[in-house]
Amino acid sequence: MGGLVLHSPSDQLLFAISAALDLTYKGISPHHMRVALVTGKISQALGLPRERLQCAVRAALIHDCGVKTWGERDKLHVFEVEHPFQHAEDGFRLLEPSPLCALAVVVRYHHDRWSGGNLSGLAGESIPLESRILHLADRLDVLLDPARFYNCQRSEVLKALEGYRGSAFDPQLVDVLGDIGRQESFWLDLEPEFLRDSLAGFMAATPKPASQRETYGSIPELGEIEGVAEVFAGIVDRRSPYTYQHSKRVADCAYRLGKVLGFDENRCRELRVAGLLHDLGKLGVDEGILDKNGSLDGAEVCVIRRHPYLTFRLLERVSGFEELKEWAAFHHERLDGKGYPFGFGEDRLSLEARVVAVCDVFAALSEDRPYRRGLERDKVMEILEKMADSGALDRKVVEAAGCL
Ligand SMILES: [Fe+2]
Ligand SMILES: [Fe+2]
Ligand SMILES: [Fe+2]
Ligand SMILES: [Fe+2]
Repeated sequence: MGGLVLHSPSDQLLFAISAALDLTYKGISPHHMRVALVTGKISQALGLPRERLQCAVRAALIHDCGVKTWGERDKLHVFEVEHPFQHAEDGFRLLEPSPLCALAVVVRYHHDRWSGGNLSGLAGESIPLESRILHLADRLDVLLDPARFYNCQRSEVLKALEGYRGSAFDPQLVDVLGDIGRQESFWLDLEPEFLRDSLAGFMAATPKPASQRETYGSIPELGEIEGVAEVFAGIVDRRSPYTYQHSKRVADCAYRLGKVLGFDENRCRELRVAGLLHDLGKLGVDEGILDKNGSLDGAEVCVIRRHPYLTFRLLERVSGFEELKEWAAFHHERLDGKGYPFGFGEDRLSLEARVVAVCDVFAALSEDRPYRRGLERDKVMEILEKMADSGALDRKVVEAAGCL
């Protein structure tokens, strides 16, 4: 399998986030990526202009970002979904004020039925075309049986979708799908083994206009990354009432601590991004464990202890994030090497990683938890100092936190 070639770090980050939305206990079940590829192929067959095609594929990559719980997600993976509109509306609200605002409208109507009866009041051609395409691609995906080769399911899946031609789905789109679905490769591209490369290849063949291509390091790209990271910090945080704003707090703390320690503006902004993304791997923990009131059993502790590792793996493929992924993912490491998941000691933990680790504890102690109220600032500082004494946190960074 060749390496993934994507146009820009913010697209690579979008891929990482897309994968995070599909985390389960059995690894990544790439619903979003499959829907993105099918959306792209239908859009291409329709001759959609490049910019609209790119927008449709990107929206598809994160279309269910408004889903709050794993239970809600499971319900959406039933073909005749009963209440599809809330997560679509929530996704719209999350994306609208961000650099991803162009995707917001596509996400908003991605469950709207062609024949009407939608919460939006829209029907037929008044539903944005990109949303209609996404709807069809999404429902195709939930019909696929992961236990069998997809190309063997071709006729039954197309026939099932055909049954909703003109009711749930735009008839023209069903016809286009019937056409491109004749190709064996259409189905083989969706297999987990080939999907990532197929989609990357597809995106490389339909590049963003040159004016939109930026390299990380230039301010516009960093600005876009900050905006995207902020949206997804919100998605991680909203899964539990106790972590409401946790990632944003860690991010603000990291930025300000960076200033106190004398880092330049760009580095402080990168620290902020690391803070926003540090708990991205928590999307791989179900809400029953996140919200549990009481001590966790052994198996639940194992689930929790996976999350910084998941953050590390998810951010690994974003170019320019070589260091940043470590600052984000090492927040439960300790200077004495007794942390997790890597058990790295002080020789391996950069000052930036130590900053994020201190901010994570700082923010967590200040927030309410199911088993205690948020602590006062003096008490927080006292605990941080004890943690420096015990070899967990960096003393210099803890002292700097005292200046905030
Ligand atoms: Fe959905
Ligand atoms: Fe979906
Ligand atoms: Fe964490
Ligand atoms: Fe955290």
